[in-house]
Amino acid sequence: MIKVPDHVTLFAVSRYPLNLSGIHGQTHWERVHKWGMALSLGSKRADPNVVAHFAVLHDMCRRHDGTDPEHGPRASALLEENIDVLTHLTTGQRRKLLTAISGHSDGTTSKDDTIGCCWDADRLDLPRVGLTPEPKYMSTESGLYTLRELYGPHLSVAPVKQSKKL
Ligand SMILES: [Fe+2]
Ligand SMILES: [Fe+2]
Repeated sequence: MIKVPDHVTLFAVSRYPLNLSGIHGQTHWERVHKWGMALSLGSKRADPNVVAHFAVLHDMCRRHDGTDPEHGPRASALLEENIDVLTHLTTGQRRKLLTAISGHSDGTTSKDDTIGCCWDADRLDLPRVGLTPEPKYMSTESGLYTLRELYGPHLSVAPVKQSKKL
């Protein structure tokens, strides 16, 4: 389990404008972190350090808990302005993290294992709001495998609603 440095978590907490106990708050970040670590183990080319940082930072610029498609690009831009927060990461890790954060609110998938683990981990926490993740929005084999383990091979546990947005 990769631990994100405390100053990174404090940065996210200090910038998050919503209720930290809300649906996109700290317990969500912790579950995305847990899923991300598990998925990283199943994706040999994924960088778990980037995935762990994504979990803490990806939703910090939400302005509300509804549809807010620009919260990913806002968080990426904020980190670029405060890149000192990430000096413990390599240039390549920082670049990948910003790409993962910026694109996570677009409702797409990624062929990159690290970015895919980030986005799949986020989607695996959709059941907290009554949504079932759709297989077609899983980026990684381990994400798809996990989804089928949770819901069965045909996702026959009657999805209530479906969503591609995070
Ligand atoms: Fe999220
Ligand atoms: Fe998000």
